[in-house]
Amino acid sequence: MDVRANQVIDRVWSTLNPFAPIRDPLLALFHPYHYGQGENIESRVRATEFVGRLPRTVERFASPYLIRHWTVGQALPSGLYLEFGVAGGLSTNQIARSILQRVPEGRLYGFDTFEGLPEHWRTGVEAGEYAQTEIPRVEPNVTLVEGRFEKTLVPFLAGHDRAAAFVHIDCDLYSSTRFVLSTLLEEGRLRAGSIILFDELFNYPGWHRNGEYRALEELFPTPTLTYEFIAVAPFFGRASVRLVDARSSVGENGRPSTVPTVR
Ligand SMILES: C[S@@+](CC[C@H](N)C(=O)[O-])C[C@H]1O[C@@H](n2cnc3c(N)ncnc32)[C@H](O)[C@@H]1O
Repeated sequence: MDVRANQVIDRVWSTLNPFAPIRDPLLALFHPYHYGQGENIESRVRATEFVGRLPRTVERFASPYLIRHWTVGQALPSGLYLEFGVAGGLSTNQIARSILQRVPEGRLYGFDTFEGLPEHWRTGVEAGEYAQTEIPRVEPNVTLVEGRFEKTLVPFLAGHDRAAAFVHIDCDLYSSTRFVLSTLLEEGRLRAGSIILFDELFNYPGWHRNGEYRALEELFPTPTLTYEFIAVAPFFGRASVRLVDARSSVGENGRPSTVPTVR
């Protein structure tokens, strides 16, 4: 099943949002997302191990919609809500609606070139994937920031002085994820309490060596910040983390016990 077919399925399911509590367990049964691409056995085994090592306190979700909605609910009401990777606006609009339920004046800033991935990601997902023919229609509480993150993020931060309450990483690539997270760190916009939701953290061929996971592992812990997993949608490879003060949460290997080691 190719990426576009999956997007169509997600779009159809997302129109049934009001029925999410009934719909989502069904989604987990029938949605052929990453498990359909599981030709790489090692990656699947590592994904299973990864989920198995997460503490029982980490919330489990059977659907992309529910993990997004719940994770937004964990974010601090004040602070920036940011999404990296908007494409057709599916997750953008879902997240924007979830924000409004929590923060009536909340705004989501969505970053993208709308030209698709700037480089090859993995087998079957080449540069240009997710390119849009037009800028997507988004909810009124979304502001789109068009252009390469590498050009737009620093100027954006110069005009917005708060720290990030919620960051949705849906740009797939190691390079893009690393740029975004390292820039937010350098600019002091990631703090204890910031929430990061990764759309493609694990459970696809090669996930443990590359992509969003590699960027997360390379950048954390810093001398002051580490992270703990708070939610996972194993079937879809999504997971969210809360940043915590590294000095108050040192566990095995210098990591909190909620951070499983995969390698
Ligand atoms: C998987 S798609 C986003 C899907 C979207 N969140 C949804 O739910 O439909 C990934 C997006 O990341 C964008 N992207 C990746 N790296 C980027 C970069 N360095 N600068 C700007 N956009 C980037 C691509 O243009 C692409 O639209």
